[in-house]
Amino acid sequence: MSALKQPVENGPVVPFWRTIPSNGRPERVGKFGIDMGDRGTYDERNKLNEMTGKEWVFFLNSIWIKAYPPVADECGFDLRKIHPCPKPPLLMRDVILFFTKRGQWILDPFAGVGGTLLGASLCQPARRAIGVDLNPAYVSAYGEAAKSEKLKAQLMLCGDSRKILDFPEISKREFDLILTDPPYADLMSRPKTGHKKKLYGRSDASPFSNHAADLGNFEYDRFLEELQNILAQAVSRLKDKKYLVVFCRDLQPAKGKHGLLHADMIQTIQKIPGMVYRGMRIWHDQAADLYPFGYPYAFVMNQMHQYLLIFRKESGAKKTCPPAGTKP
Ligand SMILES: C[S@@+](CC[C@H](N)C(=O)[O-])C[C@H]1O[C@@H](n2cnc3c(N)ncnc32)[C@H](O)[C@@H]1O
Repeated sequence: MSALKQPVENGPVVPFWRTIPSNGRPERVGKFGIDMGDRGTYDERNKLNEMTGKEWVFFLNSIWIKAYPPVADECGFDLRKIHPCPKPPLLMRDVILFFTKRGQWILDPFAGVGGTLLGASLCQPARRAIGVDLNPAYVSAYGEAAKSEKLKAQLMLCGDSRKILDFPEISKREFDLILTDPPYADLMSRPKTGHKKKLYGRSDASPFSNHAADLGNFEYDRFLEELQNILAQAVSRLKDKKYLVVFCRDLQPAKGKHGLLHADMIQTIQKIPGMVYRGMRIWHDQAADLYPFGYPYAFVMNQMHQYLLIFRKESGAKKTCPPAGTKP
């Protein structure tokens, strides 16, 4: 038998990541701790969220492997399916739970069919959210999905986020989190591949709209410029020491272009006064199938992951947060 055809022996089972064993030590509640039973200990000094220590630490893992399959998603997927890339509301809920406490306010300037807004309503207790999207069909699909799921209706506004501060509902309020999933440059204007093709049963491109203000229709540099402009306005309403979380995925490398959109987005967003990049989480969408792109001729990657780019508004931020109702 040639060496290539010999079966490979099973190696040792290596865990994905190690956790520090407690060795039976009882968990210390300490001066500021509140015992939350199986959930662990909540620290009264926690200014960010309502998580116990062990829930907080779990979120610190930079790699997040989790499936939120649309078929099993009970958040009105059939209604939201008119959108080419809706985010799973349960995924958004899990992000919101880390960055907010009950009743706090979240803003999404690229709200689509409302993944963030549904996620805010799914939190226990619920958070409050405002979303903006250019496309009236997405705005009404969100409303129908929230209604069909009997979830608290959040405020979804229809309009161009390049003028987001023209909405008094936004310019007169301060937010505790900005969570958003902008167009990934012109990705949606390209033909579908892989699981998107299977899920939607078609391979032709499905841009969000043909609207002249749709960032998904701009060429790369203009896209980054407009993204910076919109996020600068949005973070002018973000409280100091609070977070901006931006979803993003890279583009396939092509014709000498690396396609590392996440790196360009980090550089762009850091230009906004007061915004400090604090790190990323990589979400591996376990519900996505693996396709034999390029086989057996060339390497073509399956992008199974997306980035959550995390920024915090810090110090000099006071200068960039004008009084409610004014423009920056
Ligand atoms: C990646 S999708 C967001 C999907 C969303 N997370 C969801 O769960 O449905 C990006 C959205 O940005 C919207 N968009 C693009 N340009 C915009 C603009 N200038 N103002 C407001 N929304 C815009 C598109 O209509 C699209 O729905």
